[in-house]
Amino acid sequence: MLDLEYLSQNDKGHLAINGYDAVELTSEFGTPLYVMNEETIRNACREYKKAIDKHYGGKGNVIFASKAMCCKEICRIMDSEKMGLDVVSGGELYTAIEAGFPASRIYFHGNNKSPEEIKMALEYGVGSIVVDNLDELEMINNFAINKNTKAQVLIRITPGIEVHTHDYVKTGQVDSKFGIPIENGEGINAIATVQRCKGIEFKGLHCHIGSQITEEEPFIRTAEVMMDFIKTIKDKLSITVRELNLGGGFGIRYTEKDKKVDYVNYISKVSEKIKSKARQLGVSVPYISIEPGRSIVGEAGLTLYQVGGVKAASKSKVYVSIDGGFTDNPRYALYKSEYTVINASKMNRIEDQKVTIAGKCCESGDIIQEDVMISPVNVGDVIAVLCTGAYNYSMASNYNRITKPAVVMIGKSGPRLIVKRQTLEELIQQDM
Ligand code: LLP
Repeated sequence: MLDLEYLSQNDKGHLAINGYDAVELTSEFGTPLYVMNEETIRNACREYKKAIDKHYGGKGNVIFASKAMCCKEICRIMDSEKMGLDVVSGGELYTAIEAGFPASRIYFHGNNKSPEEIKMALEYGVGSIVVDNLDELEMINNFAINKNTKAQVLIRITPGIEVHTHDYVKTGQVDSKFGIPIENGEGINAIATVQRCKGIEFKGLHCHIGSQITEEEPFIRTAEVMMDFIKTIKDKLSITVRELNLGGGFGIRYTEKDKKVDYVNYISKVSEKIKSKARQLGVSVPYISIEPGRSIVGEAGLTLYQVGGVKAASKSKVYVSIDGGFTDNPRYALYKSEYTVINASKMNRIEDQKVTIAGKCCESGDIIQEDVMISPVNVGDVIAVLCTGAYNYSMASNYNRITKPAVVMIGKSGPRLIVKRQTLEELIQQDM
């Protein structure tokens, strides 16, 4: 089994999550249930922050990409860890503000921010708006001038870096829908335009090359490309880039085949590259920010389901039907993502059954994982799918009018509900 420090087996042969019996948690909070371990989240924040502090001498910060997991309690945890927060919609921004997260530490992203969202960001006094394109820049400039203020802006640049990850989560290649490319001269034109905008204060550059990246080399090449661009900006426009946001994308472990990624080592190697480039090019080292999402919450979460049926469709295909599915975890259907699945009710038995975990949606593609080995399963058993802390709750849907699960956080004083289970009444609340 994937070795996660907060998981163990208790004397009943059940999965224990930070010492709490998974089966008992489902009796108390119901299924499907997302469970998160607070210490794992906080440790990840601290590890990143320590590494950034060490390598940039306090001139840098870590921003949590809230798209990975966004709810008020997560925002509060990020605030208490003195993290920044990346939001990508009015909804994520509203959640953060309602949670009391300081607007000054928020980075507002998105490749098609609506006029309402931009007004909202200016109204709240968001610390940084990350501009994706020139149309958006014009709109922000006009709103800021009308408001008699200056929007603090980073320009998102497409560095032209290809990475080995699923096509749907690549973002740094030249033809990406995100950002402004350097290659064709649009990057430098954008910075020249920013300089002419009276309602904009140019803070710096942003880039993000993709997600679930496990090699360090593309991050180092990206840092190199961005530093070269900073030098071009200095030479051509005499502008100093104060901040360089290098995005997120660090991969996590989903199964025991995956190697633990050494984030601290990445940060150290990238910082060496940035410092050596700065010396070589005669530019100063900008304030450095990074934007991890998955690697802060991913391994900290798991999902518990109850088995409703076990069916042998053929000699080689046994379906275990669970009471959730791609409504709470669409990642296998979307990206064929691998997961570790365990029978949380029978941890003490040998994993000698090959099964396919099927969701309850009216769709053959509603599969959580295919042909995985688990211990003998019976109706009523609790199945745990590990490492679902990122992009599961945040990507959940109400397809087939299935209600969204609750989220429980296990903290120092035990399990606490941080998101209530959606009710049937809430499902029809918007219906006229
Ligand atoms: N910054 C920007 C601008 C991003 O677009 C993203 C992720 C991040 C930071 C955080 O990346 P992370 O550290 O989490 O890899 N739904 C997909 C992942 C989409 C990622 C989108 N952007 C999945 O489930 O794999």
